[in-house]
Amino acid sequence: MDFEIVNASPAEIETDCLVIGIGTDAEFTSSSTAVNDASKGYLQRLIDAGDFSGKQGETQMLREIPGVKASRVLLLGLGKRGERSIGKQQTGISAAATILTKLGVKSAVIALDCESSDDDDIYRDTRHLVEWCSASLYRYDTTKSKKADPIKLEHIYILATEEQTEIAEGALLDGVAIANGVSSARELGNLPGNICTPLYLAEHAVNLANEFESISVDILNEDQIEALGMGALMAVGKGSDIPPRLIVLKYTGTDESEKPHALVGKGITFDTGGISLKPGGEMDEMKFDMCGAASVLGALESVAEMALPINLVVLVAAAENMPSGGATKPGDVVTTLSGQTVEILNTDAEGRLVLCDALTYVERFEPQSVIDVATLTGACIIALGHQATGLLANNQELANKLLDAGQYAWDRAWQLPLWDEYQPQLDSNFADIANIGGRPAGTITAACFLSRFAKTFNWAHLDIAGVAWNSGKAKGATGRCVPLLCQYLLDIAEEKEA
Ligand code: BES
Ligand code: MN
Ligand code: ZN
Repeated sequence: MDFEIVNASPAEIETDCLVIGIGTDAEFTSSSTAVNDASKGYLQRLIDAGDFSGKQGETQMLREIPGVKASRVLLLGLGKRGERSIGKQQTGISAAATILTKLGVKSAVIALDCESSDDDDIYRDTRHLVEWCSASLYRYDTTKSKKADPIKLEHIYILATEEQTEIAEGALLDGVAIANGVSSARELGNLPGNICTPLYLAEHAVNLANEFESISVDILNEDQIEALGMGALMAVGKGSDIPPRLIVLKYTGTDESEKPHALVGKGITFDTGGISLKPGGEMDEMKFDMCGAASVLGALESVAEMALPINLVVLVAAAENMPSGGATKPGDVVTTLSGQTVEILNTDAEGRLVLCDALTYVERFEPQSVIDVATLTGACIIALGHQATGLLANNQELANKLLDAGQYAWDRAWQLPLWDEYQPQLDSNFADIANIGGRPAGTITAACFLSRFAKTFNWAHLDIAGVAWNSGKAKGATGRCVPLLCQYLLDIAEEKEA
């Protein structure tokens, strides 16, 4: 599937399907006006007859409209001007893309004229169009013996005016890069735990480094992790026959002397809970417990594809959390890379254990900012549901940048407090810190735990437990957080250039 920006007059385009927008109250765009005029009021009559209301997200397929060269025209409702929501814009565009793929046509032209949202932002509309069309085309079939039918839709042409073309083309390239990062993150997330192991994640990282000249990789094995003194990461991996890995990737997009930004991902390739074993129901979904890793790796891929003029370090703390005779037990005390000791009261609070050692490790890069991404707490789902990523930070300026990036990229986060007053919940009688803080404010105390290892840099934590995958019939990884992370880094790159 590829995308291309084209300039043309809508009624004259020869295509299998032309997608145009109409708002409520017969609010036409320039393209739907052109189609309406060329067809001597066909669309107006359709609306007058009450057959199309223009409600945001509504779709209707029309064939062989007189005077229009496209063999089909797909109408997309744009809603009332001033009340167009980005959420419904996404639903509508995804629905249109799904219709196009089901049609079985080879190519289509999308001509929404930057009217599908209320903001007058060609870059944002075009990029979202590319991202959301791509996401609708994603199919998982890697572990099915019967492969999904190949998607016939090969080209999507996006109509733009001549003045819009330069911006739209830039948006298209960024959109494709972000969409690729999202797909890769979804694919890694969807792979079962017996395939996507810590070793598999390491191999994926090596492949990225082979693919991009700008990326280098270093994989730390269990002996190196042990020798360094990462007692917390080791403690999580101990119960598994598959050893842990610390994956270190470096992206160099600008002068090597420039300090990097850093992303750190939780890569628990399966979370049984360990000796604090989880109940059986839906435990299969704990294969998604490496989605933090998947999103930082996905974001790295996008950044490399966009060739952003920044430096970036990406760490993945990868382990499998299993119960066994050799597994860590509740009450065990371990020494972290930072020197702080931790009483592991619950082996199911393993994400913070692998992350804390990675956070200490990242110090050596003197990062300008550090963002960790993790499916860290069930409590985050209780607090924010499946809409927002939980955001906690030790620096408000960084938190604001991430909130804004999420809003713009439509991959939103919501901040929770990281007040000192929560810290005593982590007090332990037998170590410097306990790894759990009791029932109240589980997402916050998890972040409090991490904050003890993030004292020397600007740090934010993204808890994606509620957004990283869908359950039920549409079970599967979402790639959430890749767009937010890319936007944050795009903003940094832009700030630098300004
Ligand atoms: N990976 C889980 C968090 C999780 C659970 C994410 C369900 C998405 C859905 C994490 O490792 C975990 O088990 N957290 C515990 C922490 C508790 C023991 C303090 C939790 O949330 O129950
Ligand atoms: Mn757990
Ligand atoms: Zn976990």
